[in-house]
Amino acid sequence: MALVNENYLKLPEYYVFNEIEQKINAHKVIHPEANVIRLGQGDVSRPLPDAVIRAMQGAVAELADVKTFRGYGPETGYRFLIEKILKYDYQSRGVSLSADEIFISDGSKSDVGNIGHIFGRDNIIAITDPVYPVYENAAIMGGRSGYLNDDDLWSNIVYIPCTEKNGFVPQLPDEKVDIIYLCYPNNPTGIALTKEQLKMWVDYALENKAIIIYDGAYTAYIQEDNIPHSIYEIKGAKKCAIEIRSYSKTAGFTGLRCSYTVVPKDIIGYTMYGEVLRVNGLWNRRVTTYYNGTSYVVQRGAEAMYSKEGQKQYKEIIDYYMTNAAIIRSELTSLGLDVYGGVNSPNIWVKTPYKKDSWRFFQELLYDAEVVCIPGDGFGKLGAGFFRFTGFNSRENTEEAMRRFKKWMG
Ligand code: MLT
Repeated sequence: MALVNENYLKLPEYYVFNEIEQKINAHKVIHPEANVIRLGQGDVSRPLPDAVIRAMQGAVAELADVKTFRGYGPETGYRFLIEKILKYDYQSRGVSLSADEIFISDGSKSDVGNIGHIFGRDNIIAITDPVYPVYENAAIMGGRSGYLNDDDLWSNIVYIPCTEKNGFVPQLPDEKVDIIYLCYPNNPTGIALTKEQLKMWVDYALENKAIIIYDGAYTAYIQEDNIPHSIYEIKGAKKCAIEIRSYSKTAGFTGLRCSYTVVPKDIIGYTMYGEVLRVNGLWNRRVTTYYNGTSYVVQRGAEAMYSKEGQKQYKEIIDYYMTNAAIIRSELTSLGLDVYGGVNSPNIWVKTPYKKDSWRFFQELLYDAEVVCIPGDGFGKLGAGFFRFTGFNSRENTEEAMRRFKKWMG
């Protein structure tokens, strides 16, 4: 008799992005002529930069030739890409890392979910509320969340409130936590942390021997000066932070899949007996055992982003999405709505009008205006009463969605 992992039975009823897809599909079945505009899930709409396409075409040609063909690559990534990351993403910001601290992967969602595998089950985990749901879901599936208490909260998870009152800036917890998930610029609120705000968390982690998992999927959208692009810009972070970065939102790789995770060798974890272990070694073992590497073609594509023309082209794409975000921000603000984010992030976090329930708001917006948002409580209890738009659709669709939204709001 095969027993299943019963932790799966403890998961929340739905995974928000999947639930939304189903609701859109149901709407299209009833209204086959529907012209639904998606400002919901953050999927990109601009084609890949030309430099990326050309690099991948070159790589495909190499694979077609017996002299340059390649089979398995290094599990942790090709040196050519890792060196570009070290130079352009880190050295350029005064951060020195070594090649064996970088692990190339197939998207930050995988690593964000898998990283828990190298940590014990009894850690107290801190996540913000609202939050990208994968952090909590992965903890539940991996049996790391503890038990569900009477308040419907997990005993091993400390929820850090991010509300209008604190400007969506997470404050340090009163209790001691061991693993801290932070995502900045934030998904879903679109808020970025300043160096001082992030330093507070790094100092906490160092003092409490905690580890921060820092999700920097939206780093490329940072516009303001005092916003760190990497947690390693904060002194001491190399001793306590794992950083996960993605090419999905940066250069349109949502379909291609490529990301990387930085696990500095200075980070240590402990066994129950107090023995000290380097977390880098554990992650290396995990990656080399479970993964055969991101494809050569895709890594060549990612490498091309760092070329002169690649950088210019992807920055143009980011400007395009950020202009969309600015349009959404200004249109919704002009309607008198409370609007957050959209300045260092393509995510815009908005209070539902008339204190409407988020899911009800989502349904009405879909049925009446055929515009898709993400209901805030898909990101946690404190997301209730909010919704999220993104700037990732085309300019035409973004403008049309705003026209419909304004007409709908009447
Ligand atoms: C989002 O819209 O929050 C993201 O696209 C979801 C994801 O990356 O899985």
